[in-house]
This record gives sequence, structure tokens and C-alpha cells, in this order.
Amino acid sequence: MADPVRSGVVRHLARVYDEFHTARASTHLVAQLYAQAMGEDYPEEITPSSSCDWPLIATLIRQLKLRPNQRLLDLGCGTGGIGLWLARALHTHLTGIDISPQAVRLATQNQTDFLPPNRAAFRTATLDHTGLPDQHANGAVCIDAFTKALNPTAALREFHRVLRPGARIILTTAGRRPDTTPRWPGRAAAAGLELEDVEERPSEPAMWRRVYRLWLDHEDDLRRHVGAVQAQFMVAEARRTLPTLADRRAVVVTLRRPADGDRAPYATA
Ligand SMILES: C[S@@+](CC[C@H](N)C(=O)[O-])C[C@H]1O[C@@H](n2cnc3c(N)ncnc32)[C@H](O)[C@@H]1O
Repeated sequence: MADPVRSGVVRHLARVYDEFHTARASTHLVAQLYAQAMGEDYPEEITPSSSCDWPLIATLIRQLKLRPNQRLLDLGCGTGGIGLWLARALHTHLTGIDISPQAVRLATQNQTDFLPPNRAAFRTATLDHTGLPDQHANGAVCIDAFTKALNPTAALREFHRVLRPGARIILTTAGRRPDTTPRWPGRAAAAGLELEDVEERPSEPAMWRRVYRLWLDHEDDLRRHVGAVQAQFMVAEARRTLPTLADRRAVVVTLRRPADGDRAPYATA
């Protein structure tokens, strides 16, 4: 039976993210500021609402190891650009999920710029309850969304459930120095996954510093373009996060569901 508290939280977050995506889709200004902050690393066609840049896309391609016609998942897909770009480049099928129905609508509209209708589908769901069949995907990405999971432990178990044996999920996350990764082998193993790789993104904090300074410099423009409420959220995020960036450590984590016949990650002999 559905938990009424959880359902209320999901409905609330869906509304919050709907407003976020509606505001950002109504203007080019936010994308222009990301482009200015990222310079030539900005993946213009993807229009991410995140730290996604060309070096990250290169890491995703390298780590996913997908073959044509396999199935890719984009978890917390936002308006879909990352998954759509990857699915077109790698000739895979794509399923994107996001908590926000508005993100799903925008991703579905964006699909026609990248892929024929039968090669991608977007649905409203959460990271810990994707609604997808067991062993659905040959690979998955989760970009700047994992930290927003309602229940991160349940989300990792869900990732294990929807991945085929041998498939990988690549997710971005960040924490404070000295290190945010020692917990990952244990967290992964508890969900039946193995930690295959952790790659630091040393230039990510400086990129956010440039983004946030631009938001503060353009506060009045943002108010006109995204509305007073969203502009206030952006300015508050910038003021809150800027002082923490000095010891931020951003990483790309690759987790793999062991292939049938692999030794279990916790095996002792
Ligand atoms: C920072 S945005 C990143 C979007 C996209 N991955 C990108 O890089 O452009 C985070 C996304 O996660 C979605 N989200 C937040 N909480 C979620 C949850 N519990 N389950 C699924 N999606 C969630 C938001 O609606 C938003 O689209």
C-alpha cells in the first residue's frame, strides 16, 4: 500500500521541480550563463541543468561501454538532453525518468531533435521507484540527481534491480574534502553492486564558482527572465554554496551489477 507521507513528499517535490523546469525553459538566459561559465566545455545541444560538460560526456561514453541497440537509462533526466545525446551517439534505445511531470513533457518535446519516436520514452517516476522491469537496461546515467534521492539506499537497490548483469550506472556526486569516496565500496556492495571506478572532477568546483558569481551579477536579469521566486532560489543557492566550494570534491562514480558467474563482491575465497 502506498505510504501517504511519502506520496505527499513526492507530490510536493514534483511541484517544486515543475516550477524549476518551467522557469528555466521560458528563457535562454540561464543556459547562456552556464555557457559563459563553462566556455568551450559547454555542451550547447544538451542544455544541461547541471555540471554536465564535454569532459563528463566523454567519461560517460567511456564507462558505459554500450553496444548499438542496447538500452540506456537516464535517471533524473531533467529535460532529457544528456540521455538523448548519448542515445543518438551510441545508437541505443533510451528511457528517461524524472520526478517532475514538466521535465518529462519537455524531454518528450526535445526528443524529436535527436531520435525517432520509437527509440526513446520518458516517464514520471522517482530514483528509488522507477517502475521499470527487472534487468531492463544495459547501462544508466544519473547526473547531478543522486543526491536528491528520497532514499539513497533504496535508490541503489533499485539501480541494481533495473540493470542487467554486467551493466553499469555512472553517477555524479560531491562532498567535502578530504574524501567522499571511502563509503562507496560498502554502499555499493550493500545494494549488490560493485564499485568499478571513481574519477575526480577537479575543475567542477571552479565551474560552479563562475556559475554562481554570474547568477549574483545578473540577479535583476534573472528576476525578469525566470520570475522573482525562482531568481530568489538561485541567488540563495549561490550565496549558500559559494563559501563551501573551496573544499568541495566532485566525483563520477561507476557502479556495476556483477555479471552472472562473477564472484560476489563480498566473497572471501
Ligand atoms: C540538477 S537537475 C539535473 C537534470 C539532468 N540530469 C541534467 O544533468 O541536466 C536534477 C533533476 O533530478 C530530478 N529529481 C529530483 N529528485 C528526484 C527524485 N527523487 N527522483 C527522480 N528525479 C528527481 C529533478 O526534477 C531534476 O530534473
